[in-house]
Amino acid sequence: MQYKFIIFISIGLIITTQPSYIHPDEHFQSLEILSNLFFNIKGTIPWEFNPLHSARSYVPLLLNYSPFFLLIKSFPILKTPSIILYGSRLINLSIFLLTIFYILNLKKITKYFILTSFVTFTLQSHTFSNSLETIILLWVLNLYSKNIDKSSKSFANSIWIGTLISLGVFNRMTFPAFILLPSIYMLFTYYAYNIFSLIIIVSSFLTTSCLCILIDSKIYGAKKNIFIITPLNNFLYNLYVQNLKLHGLHAWYTHLLINLPQLVGPLIIILPWSIFQILSNIRQKTMQNSSEQKRKYFITLSSLSLIGSLMLLSLFKHQELRFLTPLMPLIIIVILEPFTKSKYNKFLNSNKLCYLKISWILFNFFMSLLLGCFHQTGIIKYISTFQSNNITPQTQDSIGIHIWWKTYSPPTWMYLNQNLIVSTTTIKSDIETIDDINFDILQNHIIDLKGSDINLLNDTLHTYLMNDTLNNATLILPRSVTSKLINLKDNFVFTQIYSTNVHLDLDHIDFDDLSSLYPGLIAYSVRHK
Ligand SMILES: *[C@@H]1O[C@H](CO)[C@@H](O)[C@H](O)[C@H]1NC(C)=O
Ligand SMILES: *[C@@H]1O[C@H](CO)[C@@H](O)[C@H](O)[C@H]1NC(C)=O
Ligand SMILES: *[C@@H]1O[C@H](CO)[C@@H](O)[C@H](O)[C@H]1NC(C)=O
Repeated sequence: MQYKFIIFISIGLIITTQPSYIHPDEHFQSLEILSNLFFNIKGTIPWEFNPLHSARSYVPLLLNYSPFFLLIKSFPILKTPSIILYGSRLINLSIFLLTIFYILNLKKITKYFILTSFVTFTLQSHTFSNSLETIILLWVLNLYSKNIDKSSKSFANSIWIGTLISLGVFNRMTFPAFILLPSIYMLFTYYAYNIFSLIIIVSSFLTTSCLCILIDSKIYGAKKNIFIITPLNNFLYNLYVQNLKLHGLHAWYTHLLINLPQLVGPLIIILPWSIFQILSNIRQKTMQNSSEQKRKYFITLSSLSLIGSLMLLSLFKHQELRFLTPLMPLIIIVILEPFTKSKYNKFLNSNKLCYLKISWILFNFFMSLLLGCFHQTGIIKYISTFQSNNITPQTQDSIGIHIWWKTYSPPTWMYLNQNLIVSTTTIKSDIETIDDINFDILQNHIIDLKGSDINLLNDTLHTYLMNDTLNNATLILPRSVTSKLINLKDNFVFTQIYSTNVHLDLDHIDFDDLSSLYPGLIAYSVRHK
């Protein structure tokens, strides 16, 4: 491997193992569930995994992470939040890099751009279901393109394609959006003449899907005869706009105009031109050798996947940046792979590419710092420090009350506590309340007040501390909102017990109050005056 690659991967490893926290789903839809399953700890079960909804499959999670979790289970000394968190990220990163370097046949410049994209070391290596979606998609497209090669073993290929598509659908209900156009293209150019392969694909798809349904039904503990089809439940839930409103509604162009530019920065400028080039050559049959033909097929399939997924995902009302994670490698492939050697050298030596490279590096450097190093970082740092100072997983001493205010939801699995109770605010007729929090629980209780206003924090502290039921409670909040505590100081004493400056909180910036611009996270021990 080239020394440049080694340098980029080393920098990437540092970014991957920073305690940043991009989005709650990276914890709640994977590590919370797995820690609950393997270590029997209590934490937060998100709605998708609530047996009432049963809207997410366990199978892709188990396939990806269970060897690692079994390893930790057999060596309890490894059972720390940091090892679990960074170990899982390194697994995701390794699978992605192995795919880029050894499974796909890519040009050096493509690998170079993928290795310098911030997405590789942030979104792709964090524990999102979207990261798995990237891998499955690249494998399916690669297997499709192998069909052009008459010598490849079409039988085994087809079994893999069916299995992977099924796993893709059970991993995320939106997976069909990524493979719809490539599959239609394959149907007309290949499978129409190879019906047998098509039959094998459909059979292996159905077999794998049945296995997933059986495993999920078992884990969700369904009564006999009731089968749980998680992608279907998820689809039905998403069909109702009322449900989506809970998660936030976005305009149809959010992916195209806001998320896509955030994903690939300056490359967005040449993307339409590249796609146009590929599509205008789509029907042209050239007599290249078979490996060149395979490459061409792969590029065509990648651009079809890119176009199809952007169109279909834009139809959904809920549009987040991380949903586009699988498009990062596709965009880079579509832009850089079509160049032939002579065209490529001309392009490489032009000044335009030089500007592009510089803006690409600056863009990715900035995004890596933002998302990979600073975003909500204090949360992970605090729980890891607290966990290692206070309790070993073996002793399970009580942690008392932890009140989180104006941070992302704390990843409760990191407490590795088998007696934890997690409470949060509830919305009742559009008003946020603490009515559903059980204030009789004085041990191992995490209260997530989310972004609620100061009155709910005041009420929570009052209920707990004013009648001497409790000596003190721990309050964790970003430094940017500490000035709001001033009115509470008449009744309460705040003693700082932890602070870090590495915590970027983009949600509470208020230009009337300059202290809201300070980065950092603080934990106080609060008691009644
Ligand atoms: C006093 O503490 C108990 C918990 O044991 C709680 O139920 C009650 O609401 C508290 N009273 C007040 C006035 O906050
Ligand atoms: C909080 O209360 C617990 C038990 O009541 C006590 O052990 C601990 O020292 C107190 N912490 C602080 C910072 O006052
Ligand atoms: C906090 O709540 C108590 C009791 O409800 C109330 O007396 C007090 O004025 C409140 N403080 C603030 C700053 O709102």
